[in-house]
Amino acid sequence: MLSVLAILTLTSIGQSAFTPLKDGYPVISNKTTLADVEQLAGGHAGTYPPAPTLDVDDRTSWAVLAFSSLSTIAFYNELIANITNHVPGYDVSPTMITDFESAIDYAIQLSYISIGHIPDMVQHTANNLGTGGANIIFNVAGWSSVYGQQNGWFWSLLGKSPSVQPVSTPAPRDFLYSLIYQTSVVPGSCPDASLPVQRYEPLILITENVKDALIKFEFINKAKIDAGSNHSMVYLNGNIAPLTVPFNVSSNHDDKVKITADFPHDKWNMDGLTLVSVVKGTGNFSFPIDVANATLFGPALIVYN
Ligand SMILES: *[C@@H]1O[C@H](CO)[C@@H](O)[C@H](O)[C@H]1NC(C)=O
Ligand SMILES: *[C@@H]1O[C@H](CO)[C@@H](O)[C@H](O)[C@H]1NC(C)=O
Ligand SMILES: *[C@@H]1O[C@H](CO)[C@@H](O)[C@H](O)[C@H]1NC(C)=O
Ligand SMILES: *[C@@H]1O[C@H](CO)[C@@H](O)[C@H](O)[C@H]1NC(C)=O
Ligand SMILES: *[C@@H]1O[C@H](CO)[C@@H](O)[C@H](O)[C@H]1NC(C)=O
Ligand SMILES: *[C@@H]1O[C@H](CO)[C@@H](O)[C@H](O)[C@H]1NC(C)=O
Repeated sequence: MLSVLAILTLTSIGQSAFTPLKDGYPVISNKTTLADVEQLAGGHAGTYPPAPTLDVDDRTSWAVLAFSSLSTIAFYNELIANITNHVPGYDVSPTMITDFESAIDYAIQLSYISIGHIPDMVQHTANNLGTGGANIIFNVAGWSSVYGQQNGWFWSLLGKSPSVQPVSTPAPRDFLYSLIYQTSVVPGSCPDASLPVQRYEPLILITENVKDALIKFEFINKAKIDAGSNHSMVYLNGNIAPLTVPFNVSSNHDDKVKITADFPHDKWNMDGLTLVSVVKGTGNFSFPIDVANATLFGPALIVYN
């Protein structure tokens, strides 16, 4: 999370929309305090020179990262406070209790989708800046391991295997931004966090305990799309190019639409994180970045295993 310091020097997002920690983190100008934070983190904030150039589109990727990182800090800060203050459900010894478990489930989803944002950032940067983006990519690429380590520890806390898929699932920045908005932002409370990326309406996974079978989702069709025709569902998982499948509308009342689609887990071995969205058209999409453009509802997260 030390990297948030670097992110904030590049973007102005969040500083007014976020209550800093007691030491001022993540905006620290006092060198002594910064040294203390580095010692706590077990590493230096970095001494490589800043990126020589950053174009408007890449700035957006970094702003999305800052937005999600600030939200993540707020989440962990609250979680630690709940544990420290023995809030009922957060007394983590001797046995874990549901509230703590569901907080860790959410932490796993957050780490997963943050890891997935990194290939998206790198792809944007390489497309935008070519070899001019080399220093930025060098920096960004190093971060995913931190989230990966965290996530392995979270899985272990829940008594599961710390590594469940061979390649992490890529997440377009619009997915990360939409998820944070949908799960963590009180509507209207973050006017400064309006970024030039898409913010989708939620897609809710209804099926509990997903298996290789038909699964159900629901969305509120505010835009009144004709869900029954020329729309489909896309799954993103690991290194598999986006999988587009048809869905059936099983009910549609008062704009509450329930749909059913096939989840081809067994055919593709889709363990770990799968990101699901409802898109315009029938595909085919080459990369997640293309799916993001066509998405209307999402992302729903399936964490398998
Ligand atoms: C920085 O923080 C240290 C430790 O809290 C404090 O002693 C020092 O006065 C601060 N320096 C400034 C310039 O505020
Ligand atoms: C902390 O506890 C409060 C009160 O039970 C709860 O509303 C909140 O969601 C908890 N926060 C986290 C991060 O688990
Ligand atoms: C959708 O409905 C058609 C026609 O009833 C059926 O053949 C198909 O299996 C259904 N697909 C899903 C994913 O429910
Ligand atoms: C289906 O949707 C795609 C993507 O929005 C669009 O390009 C195409 O024209 C649509 N086809 C029909 C038959 O409406
Ligand atoms: C999408 O790609 C798959 C696999 O490459 C192919 O089988 C399918 O026909 C394609 N669908 C469309 C609508 O182009
Ligand atoms: C996404 O859509 C925008 C505008 O609709 C377009 O400029 C951009 O090229 C599209 N990107 C991709 C990857 O299709």
